[in-house]
Amino acid sequence: MSKPKIRLEQVTVRYGNGGSMTRRIRDSEPAVEGSSHGERIILNGIDLDIHAGEFVSILGHSGCGKSTLLKIIAGFLKPDGGSVWIDDKKVEGPQSRHVFIFQEGALFPWLTIMENVSLALRSISDSRERHDKAREYLELVALEGVESHYPYMLSGGMRQRAEIARALAAQPDVLLMDEPFSGLDQLTRLHLREELLYLHVMLPSTTILFVTHDIDESLQLSNRLVILGEPPSRIKCCRTISIPHPRTLTTPELGELRSLIHHHLGVHSSL
Ligand SMILES: Nc1ncnc2c1ncn2[C@@H]1O[C@H](COP(=O)(O)OP(=O)(O)OP(=O)(O)O)[C@@H](O)[C@H]1O
Ligand SMILES: [Mg+2]
Repeated sequence: MSKPKIRLEQVTVRYGNGGSMTRRIRDSEPAVEGSSHGERIILNGIDLDIHAGEFVSILGHSGCGKSTLLKIIAGFLKPDGGSVWIDDKKVEGPQSRHVFIFQEGALFPWLTIMENVSLALRSISDSRERHDKAREYLELVALEGVESHYPYMLSGGMRQRAEIARALAAQPDVLLMDEPFSGLDQLTRLHLREELLYLHVMLPSTTILFVTHDIDESLQLSNRLVILGEPPSRIKCCRTISIPHPRTLTTPELGELRSLIHHHLGVHSSL
């Protein structure tokens, strides 16, 4: 098999009571060794290989460390133990082609939608060309006509699509999505789910890590499921889904996988 795109080796993260014991990656101090009073191990020796073009969903209870895991891969945080490698290079900080879509949303409120997306295209010096390119990405997520609007003027679903447009404009090699559809109504979620699937078909070499609490979303979108346990979290279950798209959620194979996820998350399948 080919070399993994992303490799996590024994990634361990601890947080203290009063704040993060996990230093920002730029800090020069050595990582904390050993556990001291008040620290809590969140991620406990996570090993994971992800291949280029994979769509991996990460599931687990609230607080098990999913966002922390994505932040470590993005290079926003330094693990207290172990390391992350992308393309055989150790992650030492954020990279412009490793793009993060935050759980909280992160459009700049003082910029228009066009300016937000254009920001990801600042390497294009010609402003007309930059503008046209930004428009292309906005069209891709069906956001024509709101270029001059500010984020507050858009609905939650539109803002989320604008975030996706901005992320895609950066031509991500690795796309880290932390509950990108949380807080949206069910219909918008279903619509964005379809769009994301379509975008992944259009950009097959982009590797996507997708944190979600929505089991059906993970079953519909991903080619691998990773379920984290409770802190000190380890990977409880890792399953490949080789069913081709488009998928019907009522198929027996997906039904079995749904039961497996329920089992690992401690819920009854009859729910
Ligand atoms: N900077 C921090 N300082 C201290 N503790 C933290 C910090 N960030 C996260 N934690 C704690 O680490 C644990 C894991 O947090 P994380 O945000 O990674 O969980 P999560 O799995 O993404 O949860 P959710 O599903 O609710 O988003 C939680 O108990 C959280 O309170
Ligand atoms: Mg989270």
